[in-house]
Amino acid sequence: MAEVNISEARKAYGALNILHGVNIDIRDGEFVVLVGPSGCGKSTLLRMVAGLESITGGTISIGGKIVNNLPPKDRDIAMVFQSYALYPHKTVAENMVFALRLQKQPADLIKQRLQAAAETLDLVPYLDRYPRQLSGGQRQRVAMGRAIVRSPQVFLFDEPLSNLDAKLRVQMRKEIKELHQRLRTTTIYVTHDQVEAMTMADKIVVMQGGKIEQTGTPLELYDRPRNTFVATFIGSPSMNLLKGHYKADGAVFVTETGDEIALGFTPEASDGQAVLLGVRPEHLSLAPSGLKTTVNVTEPTGHETMVFLRYGSGELVAVLSERHDFEPGQAVTIAARPGKLHLFDAESGKTLRRD
Ligand SMILES: Nc1ncnc2c1ncn2[C@@H]1O[C@H](COP(=O)(O)OP(=O)(O)OP(=O)(O)O)[C@@H](O)[C@H]1O
Ligand SMILES: [Mg+2]
Repeated sequence: MAEVNISEARKAYGALNILHGVNIDIRDGEFVVLVGPSGCGKSTLLRMVAGLESITGGTISIGGKIVNNLPPKDRDIAMVFQSYALYPHKTVAENMVFALRLQKQPADLIKQRLQAAAETLDLVPYLDRYPRQLSGGQRQRVAMGRAIVRSPQVFLFDEPLSNLDAKLRVQMRKEIKELHQRLRTTTIYVTHDQVEAMTMADKIVVMQGGKIEQTGTPLELYDRPRNTFVATFIGSPSMNLLKGHYKADGAVFVTETGDEIALGFTPEASDGQAVLLGVRPEHLSLAPSGLKTTVNVTEPTGHETMVFLRYGSGELVAVLSERHDFEPGQAVTIAARPGKLHLFDAESGKTLRRD
């Protein structure tokens, strides 16, 4: 096990800059998730840690040792890819121990590691099968088994669950988390599924366009997003953003249609400043007075009701914990839970909360 330090890491392909100086400190045993939209540089960064991609600038160190010029096999890491990349003509067992064979490890150590990994991953009955005879979830476990048998200092995962159906993804997510609780191996996990990020991570790194937007625990990012990008990226459905301006007298947000919402905190904003009010869908509820909206679409999920509401020229999403039978076009009045509001500058998108 080891800590991983990424300092001012840069990547360019010719004149094209992909990563613009990325800093991440990962503690020994920590589970860090990289999230961000497609093309923001997640895989590139992971491949740089693995040694599969050269480092244009900055340093990457593993266990206190700079690895910039170290070949992948000397970095003591194991990577699990989205496409499991199993050898089709090798059995499950052969796939799992291939790397150990290459390292010319003693036969009894190989056998012992294989047995332990197969038990951990529920693969004992499948060891003699070929990848084509396995389900997607089982193949995924073999790919993980191949990483585990090496007992590396660091696990790197690049969207390992994205080829699985929704139910299997939820199950494997839990299994990877359990595995991490047991092995405590430092892990960097890439996904663009923000639910995976929220549920698995000790720490989330939100990236956009080759830069880090914010780093923090899942709840830090959820409760105190630094800007509208993080605010809308973390959380599903996304945080609502209402256009309007700030009224200093009484610390009030004024919507475009003139409704007033008390913020409950004093932001770093000036009177009349163009701002965006951020409200999470679960913090909206029906109320005797508040914003007058009309129902657009209702989506009952069984345990809650998601409702899309027209308000002024925009749309709001509310997640209500009770069941409702709204008619399209029905008028409903909603209010935001006090103490749960966010305020951002309309132009820069930066938070205006002081804390
Ligand atoms: N070999 C290459 N040459 C030039 N540009 C590349 C190369 N590899 C990747 N890129 C570019 O680098 C950027 C980052 O790619 P990367 O694969 O790291 O994104 P990602 O965040 O993993 O996206 P996704 O979520 O779609 O997997 C993209 O714009 C991509 O087009
Ligand atoms: Mg990728």
